Amino acid sequence: MKTVIINGQSHHGSTYHIAHMLGTKIGGELTELFLPKDLGEFCVGCTRCFLEGEDKCPHYSKVSQITKYIDEADVIILASPVYVYHVTGAMKAMLDHYGYRWMAHRPEKAMFKKQGVCIATASGAGVGSANKDMADSLFNWGVGKIYKLGMPVAAANWDQVSDKKKRSLENSTDRIAQSIKRSCGKVTPPLKTKAMFMLMRMMQKNGWNEHDKEYWEKNGWLGNGRPWK
Ligand SMILES: Cc1cc2nc3c(=O)[nH]c(=O)nc-3n(C[C@H](O)[C@H](O)[C@H](O)COP(=O)(O)O)c2cc1C
Repeated sequence: MKTVIINGQSHHGSTYHIAHMLGTKIGGELTELFLPKDLGEFCVGCTRCFLEGEDKCPHYSKVSQITKYIDEADVIILASPVYVYHVTGAMKAMLDHYGYRWMAHRPEKAMFKKQGVCIATASGAGVGSANKDMADSLFNWGVGKIYKLGMPVAAANWDQVSDKKKRSLENSTDRIAQSIKRSCGKVTPPLKTKAMFMLMRMMQKNGWNEHDKEYWEKNGWLGNGRPWK
């Protein structure tokens, strides 16, 4: 099994340790990426990814390195500390580069059989909204099974995290790792994902973006083909 962790920060704080703990428990091949180190560019809003293709993005050479790991992975872990109630700017900037992969545009077929995990830590509040930031992308990419782990660590770094919270994190990561291992190779997306796909399919049939419509046609999704089959 292959896992990629995309860290929304470049330092080894609480968020890194929790994501690493989970990645290690899942086992197999683990790749850990760090933002903004591995992708520091902001989406400039040129919309060329939507209209002409993702390879026309001015940051394509860097984005495609991340894409390679995402596509090869069975499990995608997005991890971010909470910054003002949301993910870090670096995580948001990375996710913006994948707007073209939302079901409203050109979702990648392989996503529907993958599993994803969102991990957020905060001093006190905001793990729910930060996890939603990441889960919104995983869902709209079509990721078949999504887990969330949020922990208000009440700490500015890993050493300050209490033993009680560390024990609780050991238990949560054990549970998620076991479930991921059990489901590997057997993922089918939930009804909500399939319903969203069908809604987007109706939209694509009307062909509001030629580049997207061609992609859906090529995949056979405007006929009977479905990405989870
Ligand atoms: C710019 C910035 C904004 C933050 N905003 C919040 C916040 O909205 N709510 C909160 O509870 N903690 C906030 N924090 C604290 C961090 O989320 C918290 O310490 C987190 O666990 C740090 O994770 P790390 O050890 O992986 O860096 C903020 C920290 C920074 C640096």
